[in-house]
Amino acid sequence: MPTENFRGRYIPTWRPMPLRDKVEARFARGSKALAEPKGNEYTISAIKADTGSYTGHVMPHPKMLETAEGFLERAIEDGILIDGVVSRAGDDVHLLMTHNYGTGAKEIHGLAWAIFLETTGIAKAMHLYGAGQDILKSEFSGNVQGMGPGVAEMEIKERATEPIIFFGADKTSPFAWNRPLYEMFADHTSTIGLVVDDKMEGGFLFEVKELKENRNALFLSPKDNNELLAYVGSQANAIERIWRARDKMICAVTSTSRLSYIANKYVGKDDPVMWVRVQSGLPAVGEALNPFAFPSLVPGGMRGSCWRPLMPCSEFDCDPTYNDGPPRVIALGFQMCNGRFSEPTDHLGDISFDNARRKCLEIADYMQRHGAFEPGRLPDEDLEYGGIPKIRERVKNRFVSLDGFKHSCKQSELFDTLEEKLKE
Ligand code: F6R
Ligand code: MG
Ligand code: MG
Repeated sequence: MPTENFRGRYIPTWRPMPLRDKVEARFARGSKALAEPKGNEYTISAIKADTGSYTGHVMPHPKMLETAEGFLERAIEDGILIDGVVSRAGDDVHLLMTHNYGTGAKEIHGLAWAIFLETTGIAKAMHLYGAGQDILKSEFSGNVQGMGPGVAEMEIKERATEPIIFFGADKTSPFAWNRPLYEMFADHTSTIGLVVDDKMEGGFLFEVKELKENRNALFLSPKDNNELLAYVGSQANAIERIWRARDKMICAVTSTSRLSYIANKYVGKDDPVMWVRVQSGLPAVGEALNPFAFPSLVPGGMRGSCWRPLMPCSEFDCDPTYNDGPPRVIALGFQMCNGRFSEPTDHLGDISFDNARRKCLEIADYMQRHGAFEPGRLPDEDLEYGGIPKIRERVKNRFVSLDGFKHSCKQSELFDTLEEKLKE
């Protein structure tokens, strides 16, 4: 629902709410009844897209978010969804949904696609910025993977008590999750539970994707930690899923789509999302949040072309306004109940992340001051705008090999050769 920023600034922002409660309250006043959710096995899906925002690439308009809520409410009424929540980070709309259709289901992906077309329509009508930015294909193919929106979904058997955290980031790529996930599930300096909790014995299986090649491999932590680090330390690869090794329970899933690989050109940031199950033989809530107290550098800042620190923040405070950033991450905690979402806890808004935010802003200043020099700017192959390749193409013939020139040759001869090229 639309709300005011908690600091009392009179600007619109957004409060994510579980929608089944709302539908039930409406039904209680009428004659219809909502069917009870069946059992404790269901799919939890996060599907996200940037379909337009204001001002510039900052925030989806509340009308778009309210419209998305309306769609999810109707899907709950029709028994398609168990529950739903609409959230956002920066200019991205997140649809959080529970249902019984499994992963990659056309009923759920079709619903998300219909919502994103509708929010695109609103954005277009209001002349919002980047309307339909992540809608890269015109025909729905039954699954939104590869069509622009990002997807993180997993089939779970709800535990007797099921705490789970949804993370959403803006102005960055799936690489943003690699270090935090490694620290949560493989590094005792962040998760001491890996050593002291015997329920974590046996470690975790990391499923890693080579993003360009679209190939996945498994690594068993702690045995394969070095091999794992060799891959997940690079932005060419992303952790896609994590399983607890001893019982193969799925613990985490991320969205790994790279929009530039889909569209073959810069079309916007990937702005990934992920789910992480926590507690009882998994990282504690605090261990899952801990890695975000270190604002490490991630790709995707200003124009998708810069390294910038990832700033933990509240859902109420995730407008990327300073140098189009810094890249933001929000974390909403839910205590599930037969597939129903609780009201979310807004974890990274907590004051204990104030130091990280301060440090982050200093790092952002420092990185920004590099301007177009690396490592402020990303390496050439990762730049998301076409300006530099065009410059290179334009001036490539200016370069001549000076190998043929003798050390003793006249400086003027050398200069003349280079100047001739400048005139071409
Ligand atoms: C958008 C982003 C921004 C834009 C920048 C320029 O996700 O990261 O930094 O790249 O605002 O946007 P355009 O090219 O649309 O004017
Ligand atoms: Mg945008
Ligand atoms: Mg975005």
